[in-house]
Amino acid sequence: MSKSYYITTPIYYVNASPHIGHAYTTIVADVLARYHRMIGEKTFFVTGTDEHGDKIAEAAQKAGVTPQEYADKISAQFRALCPELAITNDYFIRTTDASHIETVRYILQKVYDAGDIYFGSYGGYYCFGCERFLTEKEIVDGKCPEHGREPKYIEEKNYFFKMSKYQKWLIDHIKDNLEFIRPERYRNEALAFLRDPLEDLCISRPKSRLEWGITLPFDENYVTYVWFDALINYVTALGYPDGEKFKTFWPVAEHLIAKDILKPHGIYWPTMLKSAGIEPYQHLNVHGYWNSDQSKMSKSLGNIVRPLDLKDKYGLDAFRYFLLRDMVFGLDSNFSEEAFVQRLNSDLANDLGNLVSRTITMAVKYCDGKVPQIDRKKRDSVLYDAALNAVAEVKSSFRGMTLHKALIAIWDFINVTNKYIVENEPWTLGKDPANKEKLTLIMYNLLVALRSIAILLMPFMPQTAEKILRQIGADQSDKRDLASINKEDSLTAGSLLIREESLFPRISQEKDLSHASVKNNSVINLKPEIDYAEFAKVDLRVGEILTAEAVPKSSKLIKLKVDIGEERTIVAGIAKDYTPTELIGKKIVIVANLKPAKLMGVESYGMLLASDTENGLTVLTFDREPKKGAKIR
Ligand code: MSP
Repeated sequence: MSKSYYITTPIYYVNASPHIGHAYTTIVADVLARYHRMIGEKTFFVTGTDEHGDKIAEAAQKAGVTPQEYADKISAQFRALCPELAITNDYFIRTTDASHIETVRYILQKVYDAGDIYFGSYGGYYCFGCERFLTEKEIVDGKCPEHGREPKYIEEKNYFFKMSKYQKWLIDHIKDNLEFIRPERYRNEALAFLRDPLEDLCISRPKSRLEWGITLPFDENYVTYVWFDALINYVTALGYPDGEKFKTFWPVAEHLIAKDILKPHGIYWPTMLKSAGIEPYQHLNVHGYWNSDQSKMSKSLGNIVRPLDLKDKYGLDAFRYFLLRDMVFGLDSNFSEEAFVQRLNSDLANDLGNLVSRTITMAVKYCDGKVPQIDRKKRDSVLYDAALNAVAEVKSSFRGMTLHKALIAIWDFINVTNKYIVENEPWTLGKDPANKEKLTLIMYNLLVALRSIAILLMPFMPQTAEKILRQIGADQSDKRDLASINKEDSLTAGSLLIREESLFPRISQEKDLSHASVKNNSVINLKPEIDYAEFAKVDLRVGEILTAEAVPKSSKLIKLKVDIGEERTIVAGIAKDYTPTELIGKKIVIVANLKPAKLMGVESYGMLLASDTENGLTVLTFDREPKKGAKIR
């Protein structure tokens, strides 16, 4: 019997539209699902929306609509994002689905009947962002560190789940199953949390305070706490308790979340399952945050990056590649559009795009536009070994949830293939008909390598993989899986090669990078008036340039070390106007409190002021010797 694989994303709150954080988790889940299908596992992939609770009720009220109307609208946005990002989920669950409501009530009754729910009174600090009571330790400077809001003291009579009863069991389970919560840093975090006595979990809200929830089966006056409701989606989606799917997929359940919701998933959920007599999930896979301007993306900070904007601007596969390649699973990553464009140009346009286009162009030219027939016995090249290495690396990266390493391994293979072209110089061989056989073999090897690359890329960049396969004449009946890589019949002699437009056009990096230049405003083009208080927010300082060097691969940027009383790195777009040496020693004007930004991969902590001349830029300096670090008023 084939192995099974069950992958879930968190179900997203419908109080705000999706951003790249949500897109990332869903894309990672999609890559996992596509990979496990490709290796022949029976796969089920679920995502969806979390629609009850205070947060949604509050957002709906603000929007002047009912919670259901509000939930319908935002849930539809999350659902619509799936096809836009080529997500191959098998099911989209909503916590307002009738089947889910029924399952939640069923499990609540089961836990109640097991004697694990009691009625009591509780007073505590509630964070509406987390939708849970915080412990004293979790409150920092009177605020929830995750949401920056003061939690509200709430005291009321409620139902409680005896979570404390399962503390010892959970500690043992986590310690006995080292991969239960991974990577290790999050297992340690969960265990650290379990060092203190576990409090029982308040699992109800009186309807007098909140109506938007699932009514408790044993008390009409209360609704279920939103986390108790939401976590159960993972078994509802499998038709628990009776479904065949539940039997097949629950034993291999893989949850995927970010670190913000480790506690509900690592502590509440396993104890809830234990009490309901359901086996624990297999793995909880926890990733870090995508930050923007060094802080977690949030509506209130106004630093949201919208996934569809990026996809529309740069293409879906480039977007998927960047997210998967730039985040080390488990750690935080800072999103920067400059870094994105840089990766797109170097890895996608240069390495992969060029490889495909020159191979196809040469194969069309030297092999009469068809996959050539070759002598099987001569099928041997470094490329076959390189493909097998990549396959081994990719397999181990999927086992260990280190997807960026899988991409690094695929790119190593791409680079070996590019090197093979340079070393064999097909264009030189092509000049002499006596080399025909050798040249044909080289082109054949390259076409096999393109096929292997396409297959390895399928889970990550499905559209690109398809385009490559189409160009090498592979039809849909081709068995596209890892096992077919390098196999003798993986290419069909005589299939037509199709030259298509380049996979990834280069993006110009010059635009939008003029971080350092202040444009000369003509009178008719003045910006709107501001009052002095607004101007005073800008911290302008005198700085002395200590060192200057060109930023690699940029024709415009120079990296400066500037002394403003402390040392600052500043990246300025003045390479066309100044050489690094002529800048050293200059006293210039710095905006010292500008948020850091990454330019071509270099972090810049401030901006210098410059203005336009007839031909280029001039950096603002002084006509008398200023004091280093002095304020500019
Ligand atoms: N509704 C709960 C989850 C219930 S699951 C039973 C919830 N929803 S959420 O909309 O806030 O989504 C949180 C999840 O979205 C994170 O765990 C992560 O998967 C994803 N992300 C949201 N912001 C993120 C980043 N800035 N970076 C990375 N992922 C992030 O919590």
